[in-house]
Amino acid sequence: MSDECQHLVIGAQGFQGAAVARQLLAQGHPVRGFTRSGMSPAPGTPELPTVIGDLADLDDVRRGFDGVTRASVVLPLVYDAELVMAYARNVVAAAREAGVARLVYNTNTPVPAEVTPYAAYETRRAAEEILLASGLPIVVLRPPVYLDNLFSPWNGPALVNDGVLAYPLSADRKVAWLSHADLATATAAALHRPGIEGTVLPLGGPNVVTGAELAAAFGSALGKDVSYFPLEVDQFESGLREVIGDAAAAGVSGIYKWAAESHDPELFVADHAEVERMLDVRLTPITEWVSVQRWDVWAAARA
Ligand SMILES: NC(=O)c1ccc[n+]([C@@H]2O[C@H](COP(=O)([O-])OP(=O)(O)OC[C@H]3O[C@@H](n4cnc5c(N)ncnc54)[C@H](OP(=O)(O)O)[C@@H]3O)[C@@H](O)[C@H]2O)c1
Repeated sequence: MSDECQHLVIGAQGFQGAAVARQLLAQGHPVRGFTRSGMSPAPGTPELPTVIGDLADLDDVRRGFDGVTRASVVLPLVYDAELVMAYARNVVAAAREAGVARLVYNTNTPVPAEVTPYAAYETRRAAEEILLASGLPIVVLRPPVYLDNLFSPWNGPALVNDGVLAYPLSADRKVAWLSHADLATATAAALHRPGIEGTVLPLGGPNVVTGAELAAAFGSALGKDVSYFPLEVDQFESGLREVIGDAAAAGVSGIYKWAAESHDPELFVADHAEVERMLDVRLTPITEWVSVQRWDVWAAARA
């Protein structure tokens, strides 16, 4: 069903934006991407008309929004507060000039009730405040952590070859793991569902599980024994540094440091029934998601 509206996906060549773009295209909507370099798109990124620009440059963002009525916004791996707030202000200015009918902001993490010392949360909170204060028709989606993080060169081979699921959250931490595909389904719905402007919606999949329960779900779907190993956050961060650099790795690690220190046991939990009701979507059980991934691609590989 196409409404002939131009849809803009910011970060369309990243993992989350690509999933959103695929979902919107599958629903028949015209989609334009906005990305910084056009280089190294995430695997599975669809071919899209794409504006190359920097979120820090208002004229670039204006070009992205030209003629756009609905926009999906996810901010990149940047944790400099001033820069992130500039991104948010530019999005507000360009979206206002374009007269958008709906903008969906994905915070890409939960946002704790209390202020934290971590830029991973506080930059996203600051951007959320700027967007909501704009008066634009905005829906905020706050996802937990993604199942797709586990279908990666860091986790895939260990899962498939050794039955080890290592993640930087304590074994008793409850998480409503969500897939990128379900994020995309929720985003597409939030872009179109009438009457939900101003909503801030924590997202989460239908299974809220501890580390051991997550490993058991993987084990049953993969048909093998899988055990959960809580990674030290410092160890996680030093591995991540090699891939995304020091600043971004420090930023991402803040999410897990706060979880390790925090007394907020429900931070990664969400009311999936409320998500399904409000957005009229069905979210995917963990075992169903695990069963349809191509785990064989990791069988020969070693982390
Ligand atoms: N909750 C979770 O479990 C989870 C998991 C993964 C990621 N995340 C978070 O989600 C965010 C994005 O992750 P992702 O994996 O979807 O995306 P990503 O792979 O980091 O890609 C982000 C996209 O934004 C573009 N971009 C980067 N800087 C830009 C700028 N200044 N102006 C315009 N576009 C820019 C990139 O283009 P170029 O490639 O050309 O630079 C790319 O298309 C990060 O903050 C990350 O920490 C959360």
